Amino acid sequence: MEAALRVTTLPGPFGAAVDEIDLAQDMSDDTMRRLIGLLHEHQILAIKGQSLTNADYVRFGYKWGKPLAFAMQNHRRDDHPEMIRITNSAATPARYRDGAKHWHCDSTYEEVPASVTMLYGVEAPAEGGETLLASTSLAYDALDPAMKDRIEGMTGLHCLGGSPELPGEKIPFVPEETARHGIRKHPMVMRHPVTGRKSIFTSGTAFGAEGLEKDEGRALIDTLRRHITRPEFTTSYKIEAGDIFLWDNFQTLHSATAIEYSDEDGKRRLLYRISTKGLPDLCREAIAA
Ligand SMILES: [Fe+2]
Repeated sequence: MEAALRVTTLPGPFGAAVDEIDLAQDMSDDTMRRLIGLLHEHQILAIKGQSLTNADYVRFGYKWGKPLAFAMQNHRRDDHPEMIRITNSAATPARYRDGAKHWHCDSTYEEVPASVTMLYGVEAPAEGGETLLASTSLAYDALDPAMKDRIEGMTGLHCLGGSPELPGEKIPFVPEETARHGIRKHPMVMRHPVTGRKSIFTSGTAFGAEGLEKDEGRALIDTLRRHITRPEFTTSYKIEAGDIFLWDNFQTLHSATAIEYSDEDGKRRLLYRISTKGLPDLCREAIAA
């Protein structure tokens, strides 16, 4: 029987929200199939009004794939290393501030990029803290046929800190980290592993394309990224306490916005991120069937 969920579309060109669901009571296969289907259809999904223990949140994370081990160990919780702490504490060193304030998708500096990222809102500031999102599948659909032909089968080159939008002093990784991760290759046109829908896969780590001269590759990436971030393909979402907000990394770019770093009441933000790799077990069953 299909799980009963109340689904609304978010303002903007894409995105959905669900409420009247309590994941602490119901992470059944029926419910998870609906949620996974909604994310794949709408690219971003807000699940409102949740109150989960850390153990339950991690259990929810595993429903989407295998949680990745984040590069920055000091951002993980000791008791649940799958959970990555994101705060705006005034104690945050300057080099770690606003590190996600550029258009990207997650872990594209690794051989296997993240497939889904989720953020659980524990505290949210009264003002600010929105996340910007761009639909790379809507943007792909709107490309002119000549550009679709040009990038079909092309391989993008990626490295940590590859984004031209990141001022050098704010790259929140030490150079050894960048060297360790090296250059990664990902298809420029991503076919969604579950739905087959195509999207443009140019994260903030993309700096060129295989077979193109450096400047030509850079110019192509810039053109595609300007296209993806046009207003008709972008939206924003503010994560409130009790939200679990998910994005499909194969179909979106995201960017943090500037936030005030403060420990004052009404200004604090605490989010727990889990990013997964691979497919949900439920999708593997569906594909195998
Ligand atoms: Fe990110």
